Amino acid sequence: MNLILMGLPGAGKGTQAEKIVEKYHIPHISTGDMFRAAIKNGTELGMKAKSFMDEGALVPDEVTVGIVRERLSEDDCKEGFLLDGFPRTPAQASALEEMLDDLGRRLDHVLYIKVPKDDLFKRLTGRWICPDCGAAYHEIYNPPKTEGKCDKDGSDLIQREDDKPETVDKRLEVNLEQAKPLVDFYEEKGYLRNVDGQQDIDQVFADVDSILQGDRT
Ligand code: AP5
Ligand code: MG
Repeated sequence: MNLILMGLPGAGKGTQAEKIVEKYHIPHISTGDMFRAAIKNGTELGMKAKSFMDEGALVPDEVTVGIVRERLSEDDCKEGFLLDGFPRTPAQASALEEMLDDLGRRLDHVLYIKVPKDDLFKRLTGRWICPDCGAAYHEIYNPPKTEGKCDKDGSDLIQREDDKPETVDKRLEVNLEQAKPLVDFYEEKGYLRNVDGQQDIDQVFADVDSILQGDRT
């Protein structure tokens, strides 16, 4: 199953991705997570990405396309993949089309998780993440079992640098501008499936899962 998860910052891409990969056993490819890991490890890629991420801007297309191209050619993507947060610009979408053609693959679905902008602001500024496994929590909507600790590995939770209120505004603005042409692009191709992301996390997953199950019947 070859999937794309689209949605504005805070829509719940990472949260749903965790559930999808657990059930469908396909690799979760999040460009945001890859950049954060590179920054943590002090690599050249991390240095290139950091200044853009810190100010809520997009990392240049050539950098982002390069890491996805490399990742999709790895062996574990042969049975399928879940792209989270890529593509985010029309240029990235065209590059992905070429990559898939080269690999002889096609997309199954593009899931677009829709949430109104006001809710996104609250979700992002109240989010806490695990620096080790990347799991996301929310102080009100999805609290960890023990305050400040990851349910999975017990690590101390942290807030993302780009979840400061002033950076969140910029991220939402930048991503909103890019979303419409991408949604139109995938709608015209017949891949787009809208998901109501305003429901609670398990209900959103039930809707996602019924779309994915539809493939199997
Ligand atoms: P990235 O890490 O992808 O960030 P994003 O797109 O801004 O999305 P988020 O990860 O913030 O949100 P999410 O949708 O995953 O929500 P989550 O599940 O965590 O990218 C970061 C940066 O990297 C970008 O700004 C850019 O600089 C760069 N970048 C990445 N990809 C790029 C690309 N392709 N091109 C160029 N640059 C790129 O949930 C959010 C919160 O809400 C959590 O607290 C969660 O617990 C809570 N929550 C989730 N679902 C629900 C629900 N149903 N109800 C209530 N609360 C919920
Ligand atoms: Mg995410």
